[in-house]
Amino acid sequence: MSSTRGKFNSRIGFILAAAGSAVGLGNIWGFPTQAAGNGGAAFVLMYLVLAFCLAYPAFMAELIIGRHGQANAVESLRKISTTAMQKRFAFIVGFGGILCAALLMSFYSIVAGWMLAFTAEPITTAVGANAASDWLTSQSTSRNIIFTLVFTVLTVYIISRGVENGIERWSKRLMPALVALLVSLTVYVLTLDGATDGLKAYLIPDISRLFEPDLIVSALGQAFFSLSLGTSVIIIYGSYVARNENLVSLSASVTLIDVFIAFLAGLLIIPAMYVAAAQGVEIFSADGSLKSGDTLVLTVLPALFDGMGSIGVFVGFAFFSLMSIASLTSSISMLEAPVSYTVERFNIERNKATIVIGSLIFATSCLIIFNFSTLFGFVIALTTQYGQPIIGMFCCIFVGWVWHRSSLLEELKAGNEQIEHQLFWKIWPWYTKLVCPTAIAIVFIHSL
Ligand code: ALA
Repeated sequence: MSSTRGKFNSRIGFILAAAGSAVGLGNIWGFPTQAAGNGGAAFVLMYLVLAFCLAYPAFMAELIIGRHGQANAVESLRKISTTAMQKRFAFIVGFGGILCAALLMSFYSIVAGWMLAFTAEPITTAVGANAASDWLTSQSTSRNIIFTLVFTVLTVYIISRGVENGIERWSKRLMPALVALLVSLTVYVLTLDGATDGLKAYLIPDISRLFEPDLIVSALGQAFFSLSLGTSVIIIYGSYVARNENLVSLSASVTLIDVFIAFLAGLLIIPAMYVAAAQGVEIFSADGSLKSGDTLVLTVLPALFDGMGSIGVFVGFAFFSLMSIASLTSSISMLEAPVSYTVERFNIERNKATIVIGSLIFATSCLIIFNFSTLFGFVIALTTQYGQPIIGMFCCIFVGWVWHRSSLLEELKAGNEQIEHQLFWKIWPWYTKLVCPTAIAIVFIHSL
């Protein structure tokens, strides 16, 4: 191997890096709008249950595969396989996850590029550069290419610096900034006219919808996407965790932070939409549902910021900075998955591997940009609807059916001597063996 493996230097470093991977556009953009469209707090309630009962055990499974393997996703899965057939399957699942992470990044960096462009727009507007503002907020190929490139270069820069100096250091800088921005914006928006209606729409549960299959499917899909499961990202982050760390509490901390940020984002976005409505902005689609997707973030919210007068420039800048930071802490984890594999498998220097993989992902993003109407939705569906659940399910199968129970227990004990006598050990193994794969399969089949 061309370099010694990196590792997280501190517990908080890992928690912030893994939470950074988890907290992204999925939390701040996806979660609130899904909640609004799926019975408000009924969705939030179901999301909480599924995040802790299904996504958390699956997260734990991927994390422990990585910590045990101390290698990239393919090697880590191979280490727990014993037969030739299992090893071949380990390659397919591990490599599939790495591919999924790279493809995720190829569309994610386009959307993150929009966030960067919208961060710059309040500045060009403030200095009166109207032509630049129009270009920044229009869906042009040139803007998309340039800002996707800028975002990819930022991600490549951080990953080229390695685990301690890149991922850990930048997560420690960016995550507190993200929370500070999110809390400040939420407090501010909640003081504005119309915010209370938004709070009601978000927090009063329509209990009759709690067990609607579509709501459950959306909540589980959201929890998987948000925790970056099924992408080999958690496996590789797990491989950088010290052996004396307690994985059970580490995973719980990351899941809690992820859920908390998603909930907080709901307290910002939904009230912000109703504030926009109070100012005359149309927030409902023709079918009566709240506007979501790119219309929400790129049209409704900018219209709200414009209507705020001079303070709107600062609020708009803060909001899109928040979105850009959230995207960056997630995209670095997506790039780390293929980079770590390339470094370890082909014995290539990290810098070189990062530039090569970053360029390949950027080329894929360009392909998507040039064929936007056909490829954008397709790549999103391929990765989030198919890739993530299938690979996440196979990781649970590896832990539940392939890995020897005694070796699994030994790995868990490395950070928690008492685990054998705790409730976790009585529930989690069979949960990962039976409940998680079955539930994921049911949700996956339903979503088809
Ligand atoms: N986990 C990342 C997000 O939620 C992908 O955006």
